[in-house]
Amino acid sequence: MIEMSISACSVIFVVVFFYLSVFSFTNIHAHHCSEKFLSEAKQRNLINITFCKKYVESNGVEIAMYLREKSRRLDIMVGAMLEEQTGWLAWGLNPGPVARMVGTQALIGIKTRNGDLLKDKYNITSYTKIGCQLLPSPIDLNISNFNFSYINYLQYHVIQATIILPMKYDVSRLNHVWQLGIDVAVGKEQPMMHPKGLRNYDSTETINLRTGKGRGNRVHTSSRIREVHGILNIIGWGTLLPIGVIIARNFRGFPLPWLPNWEKYHISCQTVGYIVGATGWAVGIWLGKASKYYSFPKHATFGTCIFAFATIQIVQMVFFNFKPGNHEEIRMYRRMFHHVVGYSLLVVSCINILKGIKIMHLDETYWLPAYYGIGGCLAFIFIVFEIVSWFKFLCDKFKLWMDPVSRLHTK
Ligand code: HEM
Ligand code: HEM
Repeated sequence: MIEMSISACSVIFVVVFFYLSVFSFTNIHAHHCSEKFLSEAKQRNLINITFCKKYVESNGVEIAMYLREKSRRLDIMVGAMLEEQTGWLAWGLNPGPVARMVGTQALIGIKTRNGDLLKDKYNITSYTKIGCQLLPSPIDLNISNFNFSYINYLQYHVIQATIILPMKYDVSRLNHVWQLGIDVAVGKEQPMMHPKGLRNYDSTETINLRTGKGRGNRVHTSSRIREVHGILNIIGWGTLLPIGVIIARNFRGFPLPWLPNWEKYHISCQTVGYIVGATGWAVGIWLGKASKYYSFPKHATFGTCIFAFATIQIVQMVFFNFKPGNHEEIRMYRRMFHHVVGYSLLVVSCINILKGIKIMHLDETYWLPAYYGIGGCLAFIFIVFEIVSWFKFLCDKFKLWMDPVSRLHTK
């Protein structure tokens, strides 16, 4: 038993090391804005740039600001690529205690289907969040020189404006919010819902215009934890659990008794997979609670179902399977339940891992091919064993195996 736990530990160590090297952390911090954007901003009256940043992880939006503190005059320029036929770019200030969508006093530029560029002011309320039309409305900022244009050599659509900041906006804690959307209501100055991923939800920041420094509300604090959450879930539910299933199905004597102690290996894999996966799930719950203003309900529901059913499997295994009752029929149903839940867990885990990868937009990185590689290898091993098993089963059933003696007789 001790030997087995040592080998299980070394397997886990290798798996964890492998994952940490494959899914090594990416740098998600906002960068200084690009040279071209900076020089364009300087040409456009933002002479002494107070703040200039490119939000690489947030649709690559670039924002430059110039504050004249005495007069509380703030010049802003916000640029982004609107790649689709229609699109909109928004930027605004939130006078509330946190940088968030609801309460933002926004300037929005819209690119319509026929190529017109429209612009207006919008007060974003909680009604917007629940899906009511977002139409132009008065805002509590004094705005001048507001325009929305296209800069050909940058391929950027750009919002530019001058704002006289009311006293309730603290220049050392200024909440700014930006957003990019694709859909626009036909014939109206009405931007429609933006995409629902972290790239669009992490688009808020509280900045200190005196020091020129910004502190992202979520990106900087929790993106590493998000990756840890992803890695733990991929190891637990996405790797160890399927390996345990392959051991139970194909190593217990059919097609070959390769692992005499298959049951112990199966239990070790499932227990460790459960502990790692459950830790990943708990981190996910923590992340969900930490990001108060948005959520991923489907991912959360699937995740919690995976955790709940995996817990039932473990409890069932520990408290019932080892103390079989006298009733064979009940044992049979229990075994059927264990199998059905086990296979369903694998499928739902796969779906949820892909959902998680999509939420974080990691589907455009090496994460997706890496996960497909792992899943593909496990699926390949599973399928090969299945084919061998069925081949052996059919040969046994139709007595297709012939030893040399019977072959002599048939001749
Ligand atoms: C066009 C109409 C819009 C609709 C229907 C809409 C709807 C939503 C919804 C449903 C969420 C996620 C809520 C959740 O998961 O609980 C959200 C989040 C967010 N939206 Fe919008 N939105 C719109 C426009 C805007 C605009 C113009 C901005 C920027 C000025 C913006 C910035 C944000 C941000 C930063 C978040 C992350 C959560 C937060 O900070 O509150 N949205 N939006
Ligand atoms: C089967 C595996 C997984 C389970 C059981 C799971 C579970 C969860 C749960 C319960 C939440 C909380 C959701 C909420 O309350 O809104 C969550 C959030 C999240 N998960 Fe997963 N997850 C899994 C896989 C992944 C993967 C593979 C990734 C990415 C590579 C990922 C990325 C995220 C992100 C980015 C969040 C939101 C964090 C935030 O709100 O800031 N998940 N997950």
